[in-house]
Amino acid sequence: MVQKGYDWENGAPLLDHTARKLKVLQEYFADYLRVRCGTVPMQGKFRLAVVDGFSGAGRYSQGQAGSPLVILETFQRTMLEIAAKRAVEGFREIELEFYLVLNDADRRATAQLRENLEPVRAAFHDALPTAKLHVEFESVRFANFYPDVKARLQRGRFNNVLFNLDQCGGTHVDKATIIDILATFDSAEVFLTFMIKPLVAFLSSQNPALLLRRFGHLGMTATDLRDLEGVISRKEWLGAAEQLVYHHLNTAGTYTSPFSIHNPSGWRYWLVHFANSPRARQVYNDILHANSNAQAHFGSLGLEMLAYDPSKDGSLYLFRDEDRARAKVKLLEDVPRAIATYGDAVSVSDFYRQIYRQTAAHSHDIRAAIFESPDIQILSRTGGTRKKAHTIRPDDILRLSDQRSIFSVIWPFDKS
Ligand SMILES: C[S@@+](CC[C@H](N)C(=O)[O-])C[C@H]1O[C@@H](n2cnc3c(N)ncnc32)[C@H](O)[C@@H]1O
Repeated sequence: MVQKGYDWENGAPLLDHTARKLKVLQEYFADYLRVRCGTVPMQGKFRLAVVDGFSGAGRYSQGQAGSPLVILETFQRTMLEIAAKRAVEGFREIELEFYLVLNDADRRATAQLRENLEPVRAAFHDALPTAKLHVEFESVRFANFYPDVKARLQRGRFNNVLFNLDQCGGTHVDKATIIDILATFDSAEVFLTFMIKPLVAFLSSQNPALLLRRFGHLGMTATDLRDLEGVISRKEWLGAAEQLVYHHLNTAGTYTSPFSIHNPSGWRYWLVHFANSPRARQVYNDILHANSNAQAHFGSLGLEMLAYDPSKDGSLYLFRDEDRARAKVKLLEDVPRAIATYGDAVSVSDFYRQIYRQTAAHSHDIRAAIFESPDIQILSRTGGTRKKAHTIRPDDILRLSDQRSIFSVIWPFDKS
């Protein structure tokens, strides 16, 4: 059944939390394109597929753009910006191939979307005349559509694949589908939105004991959990709910960012980003900080932001400057400690691969902690020492100095 709630025909209002989510999506997508197309001088071609699985009708009641238009317009604007920058830097021109699949189970929404997209598509061709753009519209329940769209992407040999799964607050997308997307396409990323209440209802029907274990320390009973939405504004509940989301979903993607869209009356709405690459998680973390008024996280600071016991510690991290200042102090302790778990040296790429599983910290703060720590040396492959944060490279080595100032990792098997 198609979930009601969006009256596209009579004009759906753009609600505040949806506007925030679209802003995060737009900013992330622009940065994604800058990373993919802005850095390699000899790159000559870029192929991308985007699937908007719950696309809506494309425009809200006051004419504001919905996700399909945001995606197409952001692609156009950012690619023009990148092309101008590449020309100035003497980089090669990039040939573009963009496959956009738009699906909404409501046929009337899809019919409206076709109309709303037409002028945007025409503007795209005017602005980027050599870019190849292929748009397909479908009107099928996503669960039934997924095998079909997966086959189309495979036939088209797309590997850079983004799925926007804005499922109307429901549980129309199962974890197995997310796992399958990330396993099938090497460079896949997924945005999944949902309300906390249907997720809790879904989980409690599947595994009430697990749910009670996660929330039990807050004195919750099974009945309380059913009413979670009513009390979600208490910050400790946010931490517990965030952990619930993380534990349920983190096995689906290597890099799972489980942060809620913050609104003044509570945290009820989750926008989760899944990716296979730590670089994607790094870019997403930085976007969360750029949108500090829209995001909140209740938990610990530093590298292990998502691994903590909400009954014992935790504070509200709102991605603001003052939160970053507290996080920096913690990172100065956590970064050398994390290197020590490898021995006394690890490559920058291996270090990032590990830490981005857990942390929401800003990339600048992590780099600053590496450079400011008296315990760490950054060595290039040729043995030189790096002195400036922006010169750090993935194949550099982070090495702990022999004279450590504050900590040691203890051998856990000593009898004493
Ligand atoms: C939150 S709205 C989408 C908003 C849109 N992504 C945007 O940002 O402008 C969710 C849409 O999902 C559609 N929908 C509901 N159940 C669906 C299902 N099982 N499969 C696909 N679409 C569904 C609804 O018709 C509705 O238009």
